[in-house]
Amino acid sequence: GAPIEVDLSPIAVGQDIKVFWRGKPIYISHRTKKQIDEARAVNVASLPDPQSDEARVKSGHEQWLVVIGICTHLGCIPIAHEGSYDGFFCPCHGSQYDSSGRIRQGPAPANLPVPPYQFVSDTKIQIG
Ligand code: FES
Repeated sequence: GAPIEVDLSPIAVGQDIKVFWRGKPIYISHRTKKQIDEARAVNVASLPDPQSDEARVKSGHEQWLVVIGICTHLGCIPIAHEGSYDGFFCPCHGSQYDSSGRIRQGPAPANLPVPPYQFVSDTKIQIG
Protein backbone atom coordinates (compact mmCIF):
# COMPACT_ATOMS: atom_id res chain seq x y z
CA GLY A 1 0.00 0.00 0.00
CA ALA A 2 0.98 3.61 -0.54
CA PRO A 3 2.07 5.85 2.32
CA ILE A 4 -0.61 8.13 3.72
CA GLU A 5 -0.34 11.66 5.06
CA VAL A 6 -2.30 12.69 8.12
CA ASP A 7 -2.90 16.27 9.22
CA LEU A 8 -2.59 16.39 13.00
CA SER A 9 -3.74 19.96 13.48
CA PRO A 10 -7.45 19.12 14.13
CA ILE A 11 -6.60 16.68 16.94
CA ALA A 12 -6.97 18.43 20.28
CA VAL A 13 -4.85 17.57 23.31
CA GLY A 14 -6.30 14.47 24.93
CA GLN A 15 -8.00 13.30 21.75
CA ASP A 16 -7.33 10.34 19.48
CA ILE A 17 -8.18 9.66 15.89
CA LYS A 18 -8.20 6.43 13.98
CA VAL A 19 -7.02 6.22 10.39
CA PHE A 20 -6.48 3.23 8.15
CA TRP A 21 -3.17 2.27 6.59
CA ARG A 22 -2.79 -0.92 4.58
CA GLY A 23 -6.19 -1.94 5.92
CA LYS A 24 -5.01 -1.64 9.50
CA PRO A 25 -6.46 0.74 12.09
CA ILE A 26 -3.87 3.24 13.30
CA TYR A 27 -4.48 5.25 16.45
CA ILE A 28 -2.97 8.69 16.65
CA SER A 29 -3.11 10.11 20.17
CA HIS A 30 -2.41 13.70 21.09
CA ARG A 31 -1.21 12.94 24.56
CA THR A 32 -1.67 15.14 27.57
CA LYS A 33 1.29 16.04 29.73
CA LYS A 34 -0.11 13.66 32.33
CA GLN A 35 -0.13 10.81 29.82
CA ILE A 36 3.47 11.53 28.80
CA ASP A 37 4.62 11.82 32.41
CA GLU A 38 2.90 8.54 33.31
CA ALA A 39 4.46 6.76 30.35
CA ARG A 40 7.92 7.99 31.33
CA ALA A 41 7.63 7.33 35.06
CA VAL A 42 7.38 3.56 34.54
CA ASN A 43 10.26 1.27 35.39
CA VAL A 44 10.86 -0.09 31.89
CA ALA A 45 12.47 -3.31 33.14
CA SER A 46 9.23 -4.19 34.94
CA LEU A 47 7.17 -4.19 31.75
CA PRO A 48 6.06 -7.42 30.03
CA ASP A 49 7.49 -6.07 26.75
CA PRO A 50 10.17 -3.66 27.93
CA GLN A 51 10.37 -0.57 25.75
CA SER A 52 10.93 3.01 26.82
CA ASP A 53 8.37 5.63 25.87
CA GLU A 54 11.23 7.55 24.27
CA ALA A 55 11.78 4.64 21.87
CA ARG A 56 8.12 4.64 20.81
CA VAL A 57 7.64 8.28 19.90
CA LYS A 58 9.61 10.79 17.86
CA SER A 59 12.01 13.07 19.68
CA GLY A 60 10.64 16.61 19.74
CA HIS A 61 7.11 15.29 19.11
CA GLU A 62 6.58 13.49 22.41
CA GLN A 63 2.93 14.49 22.55
CA TRP A 64 2.11 12.24 19.59
CA LEU A 65 1.66 8.49 19.95
CA VAL A 66 1.10 6.52 16.74
CA VAL A 67 0.31 2.81 17.09
CA ILE A 68 -1.30 0.02 15.15
CA GLY A 69 -4.64 -0.55 16.87
CA ILE A 70 -4.68 -4.32 16.77
CA CYS A 71 -4.46 -6.20 20.05
CA THR A 72 -1.38 -8.40 20.12
CA HIS A 73 -3.39 -11.16 21.81
CA LEU A 74 -5.92 -12.29 19.20
CA GLY A 75 -6.35 -9.26 17.04
CA CYS A 76 -9.32 -7.34 18.41
CA ILE A 77 -9.34 -3.57 18.19
CA PRO A 78 -8.63 -1.96 21.56
CA ILE A 79 -10.63 1.07 22.65
CA ALA A 80 -8.77 4.33 23.20
CA HIS A 81 -9.07 6.18 26.52
CA GLU A 82 -10.25 3.13 28.38
CA GLY A 83 -8.73 0.95 31.05
CA SER A 84 -6.57 1.62 34.07
CA TYR A 85 -3.44 2.98 32.37
CA ASP A 86 -4.71 6.06 30.54
CA GLY A 87 -4.24 4.22 27.26
CA PHE A 88 -6.17 1.46 25.53
CA PHE A 89 -8.42 -1.37 26.66
CA CYS A 90 -9.16 -4.49 24.64
CA PRO A 91 -12.76 -5.58 25.26
CA CYS A 92 -12.19 -9.13 24.00
CA HIS A 93 -10.15 -10.53 26.91
CA GLY A 94 -9.26 -7.48 28.94
CA SER A 95 -5.76 -6.54 27.89
CA GLN A 96 -4.76 -3.08 29.08
CA TYR A 97 -2.24 -0.88 27.32
CA ASP A 98 -0.75 2.29 28.74
CA SER A 99 -0.44 5.79 27.30
CA SER A 100 2.57 4.59 25.32
CA GLY A 101 0.61 1.64 23.89
CA ARG A 102 2.60 -0.83 25.98
CA ILE A 103 0.96 -3.92 27.37
CA ARG A 104 0.52 -3.63 31.13
CA GLN A 105 -2.08 -6.21 32.10
CA GLY A 106 -3.98 -9.08 30.54
CA PRO A 107 -3.17 -11.84 28.06
CA ALA A 108 -1.60 -9.82 25.24
CA PRO A 109 2.10 -10.68 24.95
CA ALA A 110 3.42 -7.53 23.31
CA ASN A 111 3.05 -3.79 22.97
CA LEU A 112 0.90 -2.26 20.26
CA PRO A 113 3.32 -1.94 17.34
CA VAL A 114 4.47 1.44 16.12
CA PRO A 115 4.08 1.67 12.34
CA PRO A 116 6.80 3.27 10.22
CA TYR A 117 6.11 6.99 10.10
CA GLN A 118 7.81 10.35 10.01
CA PHE A 119 6.97 13.98 10.53
CA VAL A 120 6.87 15.87 7.26
CA SER A 121 6.03 19.12 9.09
CA ASP A 122 5.18 20.04 12.66
CA THR A 123 1.55 19.15 12.09
CA LYS A 124 1.69 16.43 9.48
CA ILE A 125 2.95 12.86 9.45
CA GLN A 126 3.45 10.34 6.71
CA ILE A 127 2.69 6.75 7.64
CA GLY A 128 4.36 4.05 5.57
FE1 FES B 1 -7.30 -8.35 22.96
FE2 FES B 1 -7.61 -10.95 23.52
S1 FES B 1 -7.74 -9.99 21.60
S2 FES B 1 -7.24 -9.31 24.89
